[in-house]
Amino acid sequence: MKIALIGSSGQLGTDFRKVIPTDYLTDLNYPDFDITNRHAIQKLITHKNFEIVINTAAYNLVDRAEDYPNEALAVNCEGVKNLAYACKEQDIKLAHFSTDYVFGGDKNRHTPYTEKDKPAPVNKYGQSKLAGENVVQNFFKKYFLIRTSGLFGEAGSRGKGGNFVESIIRNAKKQENIKVKKQEIKVVDDQYLTPTYTLDLAKQVWKLLQTKYYGLYHITSEGECSWYEFAREVFRCLDSDIRIIPIKTSEYSLPAARPGYSVLENAELKRLGLNIMRSWQETIPDYLKEKGYI
Ligand SMILES: NC(=O)c1ccc[n+]([C@@H]2O[C@H](COP(=O)([O-])OP(=O)(O)OC[C@H]3O[C@@H](n4cnc5c(N)ncnc54)[C@H](OP(=O)(O)O)[C@@H]3O)[C@@H](O)[C@H]2O)c1
Repeated sequence: MKIALIGSSGQLGTDFRKVIPTDYLTDLNYPDFDITNRHAIQKLITHKNFEIVINTAAYNLVDRAEDYPNEALAVNCEGVKNLAYACKEQDIKLAHFSTDYVFGGDKNRHTPYTEKDKPAPVNKYGQSKLAGENVVQNFFKKYFLIRTSGLFGEAGSRGKGGNFVESIIRNAKKQENIKVKKQEIKVVDDQYLTPTYTLDLAKQVWKLLQTKYYGLYHITSEGECSWYEFAREVFRCLDSDIRIIPIKTSEYSLPAARPGYSVLENAELKRLGLNIMRSWQETIPDYLKEKGYI
């Protein structure tokens, strides 16, 4: 099998490289391979006889996108259009990733979103990812469009310079180094999501890619929590007695609005009997071991 893995040195791309046999893979990374360059894409895809293109590349600077929406659209929509066009021309399967941030507009929502729910993003990043989804869905049929949420994996997000788990551990260590007497960190408690370990996501997607069940999928770990509850569980696994203080989003000013509730249900995977995702709590010790924290 010949598979093009775009963004192979990113957070999710790194874990795909652990799951998919190496001799299947062609690693493609920015800036040598830029999805906004239509000619480069067409040339590569036309000449290499790929069976699957996996696109993990994205512009994911959520706050910066508020001021520079065209940067986000260039990668998350125009770049995706280039890929979809080339895949359609060559009859290649495309696996593309989207986000829980296509939801959030429904302020009263407290139950997980399924693939049947109508997206309503609350920020420019979410809008750009939704535009990319529309391109994929309107262009052709042989796609796996995967919405996921709150990723954390060994490599950390390249775009974001790490992931949430690394940020809170870094924050705690900083306080340890400057010998703060009573260590504490503040974490928002009014944004609900499902933290998802990228190694589990890569295994699940690889299982799906070997089928012909094309379409839209929600793929996250099982369960839900706030960022505060996620942080509490990480420090519990680390056996740390750091104090974690819940705060409201309104106390923590950021340029982009965030959804208050963006939990996704793996409804399609479950319907097909393909869901192998574990609870988010189960995945944390595996991540912490992989990173050498425990
Ligand atoms: N991280 C999350 O919490 C989260 C949540 C929901 C959904 N997602 C989605 O999941 C997917 C994977 O995320 P991730 O955390 O693995 O992101 P990541 O680590 O930031 O990886 C994204 C990759 O895209 C590359 N890239 C950026 N612009 C490019 C371009 N024009 N052409 C080619 N490559 C380009 C980046 O390369 P450079 O670093 O060299 O620029 C990076 O390697 C993305 O679609 C993201 O939107 C992520």
